Amino acid sequence: MRQRNVKNLQERIDANASHLVREPKAMKGRWHELFGNDRPIYLEVGSGKGQFILKRAEILNDMNYIACEGQENICLRVLEKAEEAGLSNLKVFMEYIHDIHDYFEEGELEGIFLNFSDPWPKDRHAKRRLTHRRNLTGFMEVMKPGGIIEFKTDNDSLFEFSLEEIADLGYEVLEMTRDLHNDPANYQSKEFPTEYEERFSAKGKNINYVKFRSSALKPDGQEEDI
Ligand SMILES: C[S@@+](CC[C@H](N)C(=O)[O-])C[C@H]1O[C@@H](n2cnc3c(N)ncnc32)[C@H](O)[C@@H]1O
Repeated sequence: MRQRNVKNLQERIDANASHLVREPKAMKGRWHELFGNDRPIYLEVGSGKGQFILKRAEILNDMNYIACEGQENICLRVLEKAEEAGLSNLKVFMEYIHDIHDYFEEGELEGIFLNFSDPWPKDRHAKRRLTHRRNLTGFMEVMKPGGIIEFKTDNDSLFEFSLEEIADLGYEVLEMTRDLHNDPANYQSKEFPTEYEERFSAKGKNINYVKFRSSALKPDGQEEDI
């Protein structure tokens, strides 16, 4: 997502900073403390202007959310909208995540959303894809057992690559479709479209979607071997 330079960027960030976490690495292991409750925490990596996470935080408001976006001028939009909506269950940080362990303790998150992640189409850049096995493994490590990842993309080859990574890692696919908006199944994800999703769907592009977790859970919540 590219955007022109924003005038007075730092001033506008400072004026809309009530949801901003300026030192996110210092919050490792302390995110629940920051939210002031023990409710589940969900992270979106690469939230763009934040339409998805803002709506989720507003509607499914018994959970906590963290929006992370590396481009400050884009992330400013999330801060401005969060300020306007007055959401107490949303925090925002402006950094590119390279290693998720820098930000979160093992088991600290309940779920991670990857929406229209940058495809990095060249083979030599495969490791930069957020759904590369190295990243997926890290994401699973900072989640509770049974924690979920949801991934949506318009990019069919990135989706096929991601499905292979998921299969090779032995993760359990809970939901999967190659045409989210024309699939009759009642996926919750349809209710929370992102900016990219709306743009591509309007052009008739199919949207790929998969929801998965690292292990199956027995009914009593204990982990099952997979
Ligand atoms: C293609 S845009 C999609 C934005 C939004 N999720 C949507 O669906 O409309 C991808 C965004 O992810 C951000 N991004 C990519 N890798 C990231 C990372 N490792 N950490 C934080 N943000 C990242 C980019 O800056 C960009 O704004």
